[in-house]
Amino acid sequence: MNGSRPKALMLLQPNNPTGRMLSDKCLKRCIQWAYEMDVHLISNEIYAISLYEKQKMMSMAQVWYDELNNKKNAKDLKYKGFLTNQVHITGGLSKDFGINGFRIGFIYTRN
Ligand SMILES: Cc1ncc(COP(=O)(O)O)c(C=O)c1O
Repeated sequence: MNGSRPKALMLLQPNNPTGRMLSDKCLKRCIQWAYEMDVHLISNEIYAISLYEKQKMMSMAQVWYDELNNKKNAKDLKYKGFLTNQVHITGGLSKDFGINGFRIGFIYTRN
């Protein structure tokens, strides 16, 4: 990469058009990878409620929350600092509600 370092890992799930979603195990692994690489982790969940039948959304927010409150991580201030400052979740109304004209999006972050 010519000496340049990635600054962030960006995930999109559910995927458009396949609807593929990442397992909680995979989401947790992404958190660990981003932590090890010291990059931001951005989970774009703009299709969060546009699911196929029988699909259940596993949001990065849930995995992130579980990690943040896991007693095992309580004393690991570096890891907690990473979770607090470098994990972000984005979404918007344009896809799930079909109102792209309104240009409304959001980011959930503690940073
Ligand atoms: C994957 C994905 N994320 C985010 C956006 C941004 O959506 P908008 O600018 O309509 O809020 C788009 C728009 O095409 C998209 O395809």
